[in-house]
Amino acid sequence: MPADAASLAKAAQLLRAGEPVAFPTETVYGLGADALSPAAVEKIFIAKARPADNPLIAHIDSLSMLDALVDAFPAEAEAVARAFWPGPLTLVLPKKEGVPAIVSAGLPTVAVRMPAHPAALALIRAFGGPIAAPSANRSGRPSPTRAAHVLEDMAGRIPLILDGGPCGFGVESTVLDMTGGIPTILRPGGVTAEMLRQVLADVRIDPAVLQPLGPGMAAKSPGMRHRHYAPKARIEVVQGAAHAVTEKIAALYDAATAQGGRPAILCSAASAAAYGKRTHLILGQDASGMAARLYDAFRTLDAQGTDLILAEASDTEGMGLALMNRLLRAADFHVVEA
Ligand code: TXA
Ligand code: MG
Repeated sequence: MPADAASLAKAAQLLRAGEPVAFPTETVYGLGADALSPAAVEKIFIAKARPADNPLIAHIDSLSMLDALVDAFPAEAEAVARAFWPGPLTLVLPKKEGVPAIVSAGLPTVAVRMPAHPAALALIRAFGGPIAAPSANRSGRPSPTRAAHVLEDMAGRIPLILDGGPCGFGVESTVLDMTGGIPTILRPGGVTAEMLRQVLADVRIDPAVLQPLGPGMAAKSPGMRHRHYAPKARIEVVQGAAHAVTEKIAALYDAATAQGGRPAILCSAASAAAYGKRTHLILGQDASGMAARLYDAFRTLDAQGTDLILAEASDTEGMGLALMNRLLRAADFHVVEA
């Protein structure tokens, strides 16, 4: 239903009754439940078929709501919160004892974010407490960036979806570990490394953002262990000089077609002409525009029966880091050099 006053009130009432509801945020749609009720949070894991070792983000509407979640708010964390909240930034902080273990997957830390979407803020306010919410997709599917995507994955599994239209960022929030040492980006998103460096003296990017975890390497963010953001089709990310990339993709496309495959190309507006009549989907003009449409494109191509997605690699400046991170993980790090 549309995110009007009546449906927001209904959604808050369901949350108070311990039920999960889906709601829009500026990044992707979330599937929320009362963060302080283990029984309510368990329903999220069941609806998503999410592995129990993957912790959730607690969503707040004000800094005072942090009191229920963390014992201390370090000065550096407060500085980034003041600069970027509400917005697409999640902070990992030492958790308060009262936060249920199911929210943090047993970790001594908790992930917290203040979303910028007015419907998300209004829902948290109407409910009156922190809302634990992962992305509202079935586990392993691309995150939902429209209410229709949530319905596709969750029909019959949850009682209510608030429809706030398409999400602006289209990829999940930046996850920044603030639990000790140099603040570290565990997942890149709409608040970029460059933006964070304007507020913090130093910011690290976890190696797992652009590389597969080696055998025996521990994932700092448990979500990084799981294959993620993936459509059904196999994905190949093609990297190199711009003209070499379009030529290589065209050649791979033609070879797949000759073998009876159903390939499709994901490209930027700038290179679309090079692909002629080959099936291609223009994601956008720049990394932000391309990231915003990526998950929707995955779902569209799945519905069309595409079995091979050939994607142009992005540079890793600004939003390019988030775009490349999602592409590489969806491709299971299958990169082709042009
Ligand atoms: O934009 C977003 O963050 C969306 C919207 C709904 O807010 N939510 C979202 O949630 O993407 P989810 O559950 O799909 O991703 C949460 C990520 C996972 O990679 C998880 O491993 C990581 O945050 N995370 C959660 N708690 C953590 C913790 N205590 N330490 C390290 N990573 C954590
Ligand atoms: Mg997710």
